[in-house]
Amino acid sequence: MTDDVLVVHGGTPLEGRIRVRGAKNLVSKAMVAALLGDTPSRLFDVPRIRDVEVVRGLLGLHGVKVSDGEEDGELVFDPSNVESASTDQINVHAGSSRIPILFCGPLLHRLGHAFIPDLGGCHIGPRPIDFHLQALREFGATVDKTPEGLHLSAPNGLHGTKFALPYPSVGATEQVLLTAVMAEGVTELRNAAVEPEIIDLICVLQKMGAIIKVHTDRVIEIQGVKRLSGYTHRPIPDRIEAASWAAAALATRGHVEVLGAQQADMMTFLNIFRSVGGEYEVTDLRPPRGGRPGQEGGIRFWHPGGELNAVALETDVHPGFMTDWQQPLVVALTQARGLSIVHETVYEQRLGYTEALNSMGANIQVYRDCLGGTPCRFGRRNFKHSAVIAGPSKLHAADLVIPDLRAGFSHLIAALAAEGTSRVYGVDLINRGYEDFEAKLADLGAHVERP
Ligand code: EPZ
Repeated sequence: MTDDVLVVHGGTPLEGRIRVRGAKNLVSKAMVAALLGDTPSRLFDVPRIRDVEVVRGLLGLHGVKVSDGEEDGELVFDPSNVESASTDQINVHAGSSRIPILFCGPLLHRLGHAFIPDLGGCHIGPRPIDFHLQALREFGATVDKTPEGLHLSAPNGLHGTKFALPYPSVGATEQVLLTAVMAEGVTELRNAAVEPEIIDLICVLQKMGAIIKVHTDRVIEIQGVKRLSGYTHRPIPDRIEAASWAAAALATRGHVEVLGAQQADMMTFLNIFRSVGGEYEVTDLRPPRGGRPGQEGGIRFWHPGGELNAVALETDVHPGFMTDWQQPLVVALTQARGLSIVHETVYEQRLGYTEALNSMGANIQVYRDCLGGTPCRFGRRNFKHSAVIAGPSKLHAADLVIPDLRAGFSHLIAALAAEGTSRVYGVDLINRGYEDFEAKLADLGAHVERP
């Protein structure tokens, strides 16, 4: 742990240009989808991040040959020899990511059984998998929970079903998609999540031969097919990473161009960014979701000088304000004049990181009440899920320990915005979702060093 520290000399605006690659929360799922094909798949713009390594390792254990393609960031998946892996081998990946739960459907289709290790991912609340398991049982899978992990089988095959999610969960929607595409018959999923990463996964599956209709009102209909082939796909760029750098530009009074950032996927963020007083210019003049690589622009974000404005916002499922945009933006909100209000409605415990910001001089109070109008599952359940941020506050340096990925990036932004030298411990966690973040910090003129 003591080696895993970044010394941050704060107080310098971030200035420059960085590039984001394929969205972590699509790339990892597209990699799992490659298991379903009977010919090789190619995925471009894959970032070098920990979650990708975990999925690559798990695919390899199941006989999928993963190799680097010709282009930087291109991966090729050859699933012609899918095979069982031992629980001991799979358990090496226990606790490292939440993606393994999405191997259920594809492994059941390919092998008739699956073993899923204990999951990992960020500690941002209990993060149950009940919707996933309920959906898999609806398809006809049997699920056996053991101390070592989950054993699944489908003795009578997987069959299409009609199913409504209790909440539009991203992961559970992906679980249904990855299972339904090769299940026998038609599946109708109601109350599905429709995040851009899910639509992009549907594009991947459609390229493979799947038949998927996205209806209005969160209804997705999937007609199962007997075989799928490989895909070639360039994923949507990472809109969480893009917003994180935008928030860093605002909090440090800087100016950052995020190459690859796409307006269409970030509209809700851009509205809030502008309401806070940040400015941006869309420099990507390609038609949405197209154009040739090399012509790439993105979005330029900057602090125009003067004071920022307080805002009220609620996190929500798409097209709402993403829960993963919340933590980086809150650091910028500590610099806004007045009272900002944040109502977190996706995760029950995603405001713990504000204590660290308070230790740096921020003035943030968290509440159990719903401070907003969005119907929320946490109001009467005693979770501190609303925050009031009083600003502007002068942030000063501190020693910080990173608790999870997005909160970690917010700690980093706070240290960059603060006067003085901070020590940020546990920065390696940031590599789970932010490719080459230290190199990008250097490109943006940040004064950071490893001790
Ligand atoms: C995905 O997590 C993302 N992770 C998260 O990003 C993101 O915050 C989240 O979607 C919401 O956008 C990946 O894509 C790998 P959910 P996921 O199922 O799929 C509850 C990051 O930093 N729920 O939509 O796990 C759950 O507890 C990560 O990149 C159940 O109750 O999120 C939560 O309150 C963090 N039972 C809500 O639904 C279930 O079976 C939404 O979770 C499943 C979920």
